[in-house]
Amino acid sequence: MQTTWNPTSWKELPALQQPEWPDIGEYEGALKELEAFPPLVFAQEIRYLQKGLALAAQGRAFMLQAGDCAESFIEHSAQTIQHKLKVILQMAVVLTYSTGVPVIKVGRIAGQYAKPRSSPLEKFGDIELPSFRGHIVNSEQPDQQARIPDPSRMLTAYHQSASSLNLIRSFTKGGFADLSKVHTWTQEFVASSAEGQRYEAVAFEIERALRFMAACGIDLSKEQVLQQVNFWTSHEALLLGYESAMTRKDPVSGKWYDLSAHTIWIGERTRDLGGAHLEFASGIANPLGCKIGPSTTRDDVLGICEKLNPARIPGRLTLISRMGADRITDVLPPLVEAARDEEHPVLWTSDPMHGNTFSSSGSGLKTRRFDVILKELKGFFEVHKDLGTWPGGVHIELTGEDVTECLGGAEEVLEHELDINYNTICDPRLNGRQSLDLAYQVAEMLI
Ligand code: PEP
Ligand code: CO
Repeated sequence: MQTTWNPTSWKELPALQQPEWPDIGEYEGALKELEAFPPLVFAQEIRYLQKGLALAAQGRAFMLQAGDCAESFIEHSAQTIQHKLKVILQMAVVLTYSTGVPVIKVGRIAGQYAKPRSSPLEKFGDIELPSFRGHIVNSEQPDQQARIPDPSRMLTAYHQSASSLNLIRSFTKGGFADLSKVHTWTQEFVASSAEGQRYEAVAFEIERALRFMAACGIDLSKEQVLQQVNFWTSHEALLLGYESAMTRKDPVSGKWYDLSAHTIWIGERTRDLGGAHLEFASGIANPLGCKIGPSTTRDDVLGICEKLNPARIPGRLTLISRMGADRITDVLPPLVEAARDEEHPVLWTSDPMHGNTFSSSGSGLKTRRFDVILKELKGFFEVHKDLGTWPGGVHIELTGEDVTECLGGAEEVLEHELDINYNTICDPRLNGRQSLDLAYQVAEMLI
């Protein structure tokens, strides 16, 4: 039994899903470099986010967590980041405007590079290769050499996260996220769609309200909340070497923070109670997420709550339910009841993506159906309504681009169209139109 936590105490426990680095000296050298690098985020920002999530845990705010399944080292441009931000900001506007509930915006961005895999090997025709584990570890190219874990990728991931964050900060604080610019967030391919037009109407109303306030004598240029947006970063804390190298003691509070992102989550495959991932997460002061799938038991939920939030701090722990559309209404209620009955202040959110992935029979491409994603969300809201608990947020895989990775939506993507613009390096993402459509539907479920 562990008594003292430190950033590397997880090493004494089994750590699943860690790459087999071929050269340990190189791996440790890379970690040393990371330890000396400046943090990516600041403890004070994390405490601010924690306060917002506490409101969400108490039913007074809603968490929108969204972005890529796996960020790419290759597809890394100002444009892709801006497009992703635009669609998340649009979704937040739709949700806030329709429900009157503050929305906490968290990207799967600026660090979402490590992927857990169901199998250590992947098949390409007759050849078997080590699985792709995200660009922080290896390359997705189907080639033996490209699949060898390379520790210098952790340094690239750090630098790329820093440059993404730099852009995110300038977009969200430098005028682009000004509420008077809501209509400029619509991308061309979205503008002509039904969702795009519905959004335009909301944007028009917001602008009208702003003009009204200005006419009443309110100097909008002095209202910082109208011009700037808080946008937080998150990723799955999978590679424990990387995460612990980014963990620093905050001189103000004396607490340890993982300064690679504002909040991190533990995945469904690495949430075992006696494992290294929960041990690592338990000692950092960042707000934490933990995915829970359909095999989760009541005891698992209570164990996770006790391990990650023994002090029962609201907003510290988000349980991200990813049950599958057909199972959620059976599986989720006893878990929510267990936490409620033991007075654990869980922030419950729904990831309607990961329980609903399948391979298309024609192309073999991994996909998800938009209507099935909505079905899981409906189930999630229904369960909370029945239990009198707060459906505190959604966790979505999306991109701002016009991709054809998920089936359906108002301007339907059909199975034979999947390969037209299938760009993901991991799981299928909603495109900009589907994301906006989803925001409208979630807003309706919330009010
Ligand atoms: C993910 O969020 O990309 C993921 C792998 O999820 P899960 O751990 O829920 O399978
Ligand atoms: Co995914």
